[in-house]
Amino acid sequence: MTLPLPDNEDVRFIYENIDTHTDWFKDSLCMIASENLVSPLTRQLQVSDFTDRYAEGLPGKRYYNGNTYVDRVETRVEEIAKRLFNAPEADVRPISGTTANISAFFSFIKPGELYFAPHLNDGAHISSAKFGAGGLRGGNEMTYVWDKDLMNIDIDATRKLLLEHRPKLCLFGRSVFLFPAPLKELRDTLQEIDCHVWYDGAHVLGLIAGKRFQDPLREGAHIITGSTHKTLPGPQGGVILGNPKDEDQWKAIRRRVFPGTHSSHHLMTMSAKGIAFAEHIEFGEQYADQIIRNAQAFAQALHERGFTVLGEKHGFTKSHAMVLDVSEQGGGAICADDLETANMITNKNLIPDDPGTAMRPSGLRLGAQELTRIGMRESHMAEVAELFRRILIGREDPLKVKEDVIKLKSDFQSIHYCFTPDQPAYHKWRII
Ligand SMILES: Cc1ncc(COP(=O)(O)O)c(C=O)c1O
Repeated sequence: MTLPLPDNEDVRFIYENIDTHTDWFKDSLCMIASENLVSPLTRQLQVSDFTDRYAEGLPGKRYYNGNTYVDRVETRVEEIAKRLFNAPEADVRPISGTTANISAFFSFIKPGELYFAPHLNDGAHISSAKFGAGGLRGGNEMTYVWDKDLMNIDIDATRKLLLEHRPKLCLFGRSVFLFPAPLKELRDTLQEIDCHVWYDGAHVLGLIAGKRFQDPLREGAHIITGSTHKTLPGPQGGVILGNPKDEDQWKAIRRRVFPGTHSSHHLMTMSAKGIAFAEHIEFGEQYADQIIRNAQAFAQALHERGFTVLGEKHGFTKSHAMVLDVSEQGGGAICADDLETANMITNKNLIPDDPGTAMRPSGLRLGAQELTRIGMRESHMAEVAELFRRILIGREDPLKVKEDVIKLKSDFQSIHYCFTPDQPAYHKWRII
């Protein structure tokens, strides 16, 4: 059902722009590494009576009435999350990866205390930085030593630094997350300094749940925070999973989620997360497998066409993500703009030792998870790499290449790896 639009300029403006956006994305190849498409069953639940309700606290301990069925659903969604991640604890209330991270910082450190996190140039998320949630908490940040050939933490040098500075908290996980974090390798040191071990799995949550990346809760992490909408293709939201060192650690997390950083969480999203988790239990391994195959095929095809793909020493990537150094092609900003003109959506990104700035960096970040979600496989990755080459190396007119992008995309219009396959992937506002 669709509602007729009223004769109101503001309403029409908003609806019409979303209409145009959706038509554009239907014709585009989307490679932002932090995005994905929700399944039809997940999308449907974003509009229910839960959309209009409040629930503060935990199931059975609410501050409002009317939560009988909310409590039943939330208890079940927590249980599904624990099953999916084989996690002793789960909190499904955070409304984003960032609010989950703020909750973690406020649980684990006090102002002035030292924490370790990756450097922004080495792929950290802004929430871990001085001007993000870490700084908001007043924490003192030190960054891991980075091995840019391996595109990973330098284990020996970091071990030394940890023993010397003995931080209260070590945060692993990044927004440019090509290879598993060396949790196992640093485990003894982390235990020796007795710090909180926090793994930000926002990007790789779906790969972890699909058993194809690493298993942080068994490798020494006390908690995982994450977004529920990246490689885990659910609604935009957050989650915290725990294998805490003691009861107090998990209690602190719970208290920082509510009342620390949220009032009511978003019930429509909480319920939709449950559907996405249930679908991932069923299809996640197959999906994660194909994402990684596609990312590796894409990286290889780009390398063969003359691009500088980072992480070559270890086969470019073991996740959904890839990073290119495009300084020879004009830099990340120009390349991302040219690709966008041809309906290929990517983002500019800092790379290790980048001489540029966040707005004018040398790199380009790509993700294969959304192309995989619509059914693409390794051979299609080579086709996409060729479209990149034509624009960024062959200097063909992006508007001409766009015609071929639209042609390729026309065969990939439905969602895979879900309970209702073959349903359209792109929706305007006609969802009820
Ligand atoms: C490593 C990492 N952590 C946290 C976040 C924040 O997640 P959200 O956008 O759900 O707030 C991101 C976002 O991309 C991320 O890359």
